[in-house]
Amino acid sequence: MAMIGSSCFTSRLLFLFHLLLVGASAFADDDFTFVVPMYSHEFRLGTSNATVVESVNLYPNSTLPGFGNIIVLDNSLRVGDDPNSTVIGRFQGVLVFADMSINSSLSAGNLVFTGGEYNGSSIAFFGVFQSFAGSVRSIIGGTGRFGLATGYLVNEPIVYTSPTTLYSLWTAYVKLPPR
Ligand SMILES: *[C@@H]1O[C@H](CO)[C@@H](O)[C@H](O)[C@H]1NC(C)=O
Ligand SMILES: *[C@@H]1O[C@H](CO)[C@@H](O)[C@H](O)[C@H]1NC(C)=O
Ligand SMILES: *[C@@H]1O[C@H](CO)[C@@H](O)[C@H](O)[C@H]1NC(C)=O
Ligand SMILES: *[C@@H]1O[C@H](CO)[C@@H](O)[C@H](O)[C@H]1NC(C)=O
Ligand SMILES: *[C@@H]1O[C@H](CO)[C@@H](O)[C@H](O)[C@H]1NC(C)=O
Repeated sequence: MAMIGSSCFTSRLLFLFHLLLVGASAFADDDFTFVVPMYSHEFRLGTSNATVVESVNLYPNSTLPGFGNIIVLDNSLRVGDDPNSTVIGRFQGVLVFADMSINSSLSAGNLVFTGGEYNGSSIAFFGVFQSFAGSVRSIIGGTGRFGLATGYLVNEPIVYTSPTTLYSLWTAYVKLPPR
């Protein structure tokens, strides 16, 4: 079981590693105010307690996502990869299949913290989501402790844990303006 608790140094190395993976090394010198790791847990589309719905489905006879489809998610954010680990918030957002090759989508969402150190605060993000490759998305704002936030939200490729569940490690690299 992986738990949160990595040092700032480890987090920074992890971030640099991700930047190398996505070829975005221009961010490497930035300094971040908060590094917030979390696990997004999902009950998959079509299962009994799904945390995902397909609100627009232009291809009802296909089991694959299709260009133009829209998915809405309300996943739990937890401290670990164990589906019973402590909940610290929700990831609430949309995926729009805006890529005709279907391997990536336009995504927007909020990380809404309801427990832990950041209870009551939120992070807003926007960008390209690639479920199989992992993604780096832009943090475009926030509330509470994350007011006026910028930075990057980095996620690992998703891990399927059962026919009905999956998770992914997400790390928010948050930069706040000088106060
Ligand atoms: C779905 O939710 C119901 C009601 O909370 C619960 O009894 C059931 O075990 C859940 N099913 C799964 C697969 O988690
Ligand atoms: C989906 O399948 C049904 C039943 O086979 C068929 O009547 C319908 O035309 C199909 N719809 C599309 C969009 O292909
Ligand atoms: C989570 O908790 C439930 C109820 O206590 C238990 O049945 C289930 O096996 C647990 N799941 C894991 C992965 O530990
Ligand atoms: C989409 O991703 C799958 C799985 O990684 C890969 O096999 C396929 O070649 C990719 N397709 C495109 C168009 O990139
Ligand atoms: C989060 O904050 C709310 C509002 O202050 C409080 O009611 C709630 O108990 C807190 N939750 C946790 C898990 O600390």
